[in-house]
Amino acid sequence: MNLKDKIAEYPNFPKKGILFRDFSPILKDPSAMTVIADEFTKHFHPKNIDLFAGIESRGFILACILAARYNKGMVMIRKAGKLPGKTTKTSYTIEYGKDTIEIQKDIIKEGQRILICDDLLATGGTAKASAKLIEKVGGKIVGFAFIIELTELNGMKGISKYDCKSLVKY
Ligand code: PRP
Ligand code: HPA
Repeated sequence: MNLKDKIAEYPNFPKKGILFRDFSPILKDPSAMTVIADEFTKHFHPKNIDLFAGIESRGFILACILAARYNKGMVMIRKAGKLPGKTTKTSYTIEYGKDTIEIQKDIIKEGQRILICDDLLATGGTAKASAKLIEKVGGKIVGFAFIIELTELNGMKGISKYDCKSLVKY
């Protein structure tokens, strides 16, 4: 199966001039989801991973697909203000202004090995901030899993010290 055939393109979404890559057709096709899990299984060995972390919101989906395949748990990295209990936050700059992500304070135990998941890597701002957040709460980053990578935005640059794997590159 060619996964690229399962990614839809929407010109001028969410803004004029942006070509939006949408992974919805992958989710609709169980065999495509199996291919995704197979591909990451070839790259990341289960013995090196304790937990999967999903970045809100589409990253949750990949993290859950992989957590189920690897028989491991999953934790959520959310946009600020949505998680109950004590949280730890990290802010990062976006195109206009700043965004904040957070994680529940005690959900990761010191030294647990975390694979961070998202549907897509663009500028890498969100991924880099997620790495900072996971390390702040004592997690050890195993690497990053992305379905889609927009290579011309150079997002890998900010996370190059980690083991990063993307499946479909544009
Ligand atoms: C998208 C995507 C990544 C992030 C990538 O999420 O799912 O999380 O942007 O961009 P970056 O590499 O430039 O940081 P979005 O903020 O649109 O949230 P959503 O998944 O809730 O739609
Ligand atoms: N698709 C989905 N999410 C995104 C994109 C895209 O093309 N660009 C930045 N975030």
